[in-house]
Amino acid sequence: MPSEEFIVTPWEVEGHVDYNKLMLLFGTQPIDDELLARFQKLVGEIPLMLRRQVFFSHRDLDWILDTYEAGEKFVLYTGRGPSGQTHLGHLMPWMFTKYLQDVFGADLYFQMTDDEKFLQKDELSANATRSFSYDNCLDLIALGFDPEKTRIFLDTEYVKTLYPIALEVAKRITFSAARAVFGFDASANIGMIFFTSMQSAPAFLPSILAGRNVPVLIPCAIDQDPHFRIARDAAPKMGYYKPALIYSRFFPSLLGMDKMSASLPDTSIFTTDTPEEARKKISNAFTGGRPTAEEQRRLGANPDICPIYDLYLFHFFEKDEDVAKLYNAECKGGNILCGEDKQRLIKIVVDFVKEHQRKRRQYLDKAREILQVG
Ligand code: TYM
Repeated sequence: MPSEEFIVTPWEVEGHVDYNKLMLLFGTQPIDDELLARFQKLVGEIPLMLRRQVFFSHRDLDWILDTYEAGEKFVLYTGRGPSGQTHLGHLMPWMFTKYLQDVFGADLYFQMTDDEKFLQKDELSANATRSFSYDNCLDLIALGFDPEKTRIFLDTEYVKTLYPIALEVAKRITFSAARAVFGFDASANIGMIFFTSMQSAPAFLPSILAGRNVPVLIPCAIDQDPHFRIARDAAPKMGYYKPALIYSRFFPSLLGMDKMSASLPDTSIFTTDTPEEARKKISNAFTGGRPTAEEQRRLGANPDICPIYDLYLFHFFEKDEDVAKLYNAECKGGNILCGEDKQRLIKIVVDFVKEHQRKRRQYLDKAREILQVG
């Protein structure tokens, strides 16, 4: 989706993303106070990722809550394109999905699009995307999803179930619609043009399996919206509910761009990083600091452009008071230097990654079993 300053598609995020403008471009809605109040009423709190506007936009979330209040359970659907190791940005939507699974008791369908990544990345073989799928699956399971309520599937294996649904979608989407949504040009391979039907398919799977219309809520970052515009277009033509969406911002790049990106390793902390790798990347990260310590103490720094601040905000400070103190007194007030702030974050991130790796290891032998193949 081109605009003057930034581009957001499922395969490319470039420039400085203006999220308000993006909502207008995509036609999604902000998560407003009324919706937050409904969360408060339904689950007894406003979860961190909503009150800090990490998840900030939606399509039909109000309808999902209406149906839930009316006694109809919704199903969650999200996924991963296995093109490499998982980074902390990928974990954000999955952690929020886990939260939603817990508080709403929802079933989860999780799609591993090894087909997508094979088609998209010249350098990746089919074997490589498959083997990343098994590896990425460990990250998902390590977050503690309820195995009774979670179905994880690999596209190239689960194709017998997904393909008939994808065909129904594909038949209803013209090339010109796909080109307008994704910006394909004549050099796009024809697999990529079809692929969106595969990502749409699981949005209808719960209805097909249940033999009746089932509401589906998809938590993910907003880069995936183009796929779900296609799915929502096709839904009424196929006789299904349109899937609802809840969208997050991008977990920022450590180098100051807008998105932690697996293809640029120095922008990201991977769940498989050693403590030393994580330490080095955070030490080298961009910050909103001043050129000298003296200036920083006198003038304060700028948290609004700082990925280190964002990491605390998005995840690593649980208490809102700690975030407010960092933003105002420590950072803007010039009472902390970026070096000290980074040291504190390194400790927290290294502990988090170590603990995640410990949980991940428990499932090493089980990935193939967990990743449903047929
Ligand atoms: P993928 O593998 O690019 O990303 C997996 C999930 O992580 C989100 N994401 C991020 N979130 C926050 N900050 C970031 N820096 C960041 N980078 C990626 C993505 O939005 C996604 O939610 N085609 C998909 C796989 C997929 C899928 C789905 C995703 C299949 N079905 C349904 C969401 C919902 C993909 O390649 O995601």
